[in-house]
Amino acid sequence: MGKFDNKVVIVTGAGQGAGKQLAIRFYREGASVCLLDLNGDNLAAVADEVKPDAGRFLTYTVDVSDSAQVNRAIEDIGTRFGKIDILINNAGVLHKGMIEDSTDAHIQLMVSVNLLGPMYCTRACVPYMKGNGGISSMWLPYWQPSPIPVQGLMELPRPE
Ligand SMILES: NC(=O)c1ccc[n+]([C@@H]2O[C@H](COP(=O)([O-])OP(=O)(O)OC[C@H]3O[C@@H](n4cnc5c(N)ncnc54)[C@H](O)[C@@H]3O)[C@@H](O)[C@H]2O)c1
Repeated sequence: MGKFDNKVVIVTGAGQGAGKQLAIRFYREGASVCLLDLNGDNLAAVADEVKPDAGRFLTYTVDVSDSAQVNRAIEDIGTRFGKIDILINNAGVLHKGMIEDSTDAHIQLMVSVNLLGPMYCTRACVPYMKGNGGISSMWLPYWQPSPIPVQGLMELPRPE
């Protein structure tokens, strides 16, 4: 028996780093895990490494800053499993440097991936989370201007 038997877990940015480790851990604890990442090659490499049971470890090549891609993947997951228990909003980009040196492209990338990404993923998951009791949505990326709105966002999907 694993701690997460029968749970459906989505981890974004699961192609490497913390997201990959979280996804593997949830899988080994019994969850059905859906890994989302921009980098499909990395997702394939993770699946190759884990050699999972069919149907309990699914990979989706998705840009979390593209709401249409997010909606498609999450609808597939929600329909397949009939529910979503846990969303880990881990995908993110880090810009190391001073704000005054940031280009428009840096700022737009940060906002679209680190702020809009979690909002799109949370919005798409909530309909599949309601009614099954266990709602959890977590946010990991860090960028000074984004924690306040995202903290507010994470208050939304509470169990009713
Ligand atoms: N490592 C650090 O020092 C640090 C510090 C603060 C915050 N963070 C944040 O914590 C999270 C995990 O850190 P990490 O070091 O494992 O990150 P990482 O850079 O190793 O992995 C991030 C993953 O997110 C994916 N990703 C990036 N943009 C994406 C997009 N638009 N759509 C889908 N996937 C996308 C990448 O392909 C990658 O697999 C990241 O969000 C990171 O920004 C990391």
